Amino acid sequence: MGESLVESSSPIQRRGIVLAGGSGTRLYPVTRAVSKQLMPVYDKPMVYYPISVLMLANIRTILLISTPADLPVFQRLLKDGSQFGIQISYALQPEPRGLAEAYLIGAEFLRGFPSCLILGDNLFYGHNLTSILYQASLRKRGATIFAYRVANPSAYGVVELGPDGKALSLEEKPSKPRSPYAIPGIYFCDERAPAFASRLRPSTRGELEITDLLRFYLEEGSLHVELLGRGTAWMDTGTPDALHEASSFVRAIEHRQGLKVACLEEIAYAKGWIDEEILERQALLYGNSSYGAYLRFLLHSEAGQNSWE
Ligand code: DAU
Repeated sequence: MGESLVESSSPIQRRGIVLAGGSGTRLYPVTRAVSKQLMPVYDKPMVYYPISVLMLANIRTILLISTPADLPVFQRLLKDGSQFGIQISYALQPEPRGLAEAYLIGAEFLRGFPSCLILGDNLFYGHNLTSILYQASLRKRGATIFAYRVANPSAYGVVELGPDGKALSLEEKPSKPRSPYAIPGIYFCDERAPAFASRLRPSTRGELEITDLLRFYLEEGSLHVELLGRGTAWMDTGTPDALHEASSFVRAIEHRQGLKVACLEEIAYAKGWIDEEILERQALLYGNSSYGAYLRFLLHSEAGQNSWE
């Protein structure tokens, strides 16, 4: 963590993967018929949040992976992404065989590109987030993960850090965690991730574990860990309480600031990826919802230029 983040300032095209499958059993019966990642987090579907994070990292080519039952619903919601100034394609994960399987399913999509994999149920919000993501996306070789102090590390992948901030070990949901640092569900990897994934074997719980994949990078000394500090909110949304808390959090921020979190059209407009015509069309599409009113507000104010910073 002490070394410079930026190895090259030349832009590289990084591709994004949103993993939005799984069975969401901890939210049953809510998720019996509808994907967890389509549940509302306050005023928009959960999947908007991870997509917004990829967009903030300047990633415009995205693969969304979900189950055979849910994929058509995501397609209906997000279409080809052009309304957000991005390209979204879709792929199936027939069974939830682990996070690292995303790199096998996405191997053809990645075709030699570095990637950012983000879990469809992870929410990030914070002051420096855009620059943290941007810096991570500039690194050409190796992998970048994040470390976030939590009260219950046993529920997550855990990274143990040395005094120099370098990763010493990685463990998936350890009963006796060696550190309080959970690994949030966002992973920047170089173009070798699919090759590493193809060497993985299922863990005792039958999944291709992301922590096992990251271990390849750890062992060759190219795993970078960035601390996400107290000023950043990282939430998962896997239980009724967590979902409710995430909604309350977004609502509180939006009410206080009068700005929306994870408004995809806003990010695209501020970055110049969509023009006024598309923004206007989207505003019409969302009719009299608060989201539609917000897009109209962006059209008629200067907020649209830089409010997402
Ligand atoms: O949230 C961060 C944590 O996510 C990391 O700290 C862990 O290292 C990582 O394994 C993962 O832990 P979870 O217990 O949250 O994993 P879960 O099985 O709940 O899956 C996370 C999301 O990914 C969830 O929305 C469902 C989706 N998923 C999961 C699996 C296993 C898929 O789409 N496909 C899958 O095969």
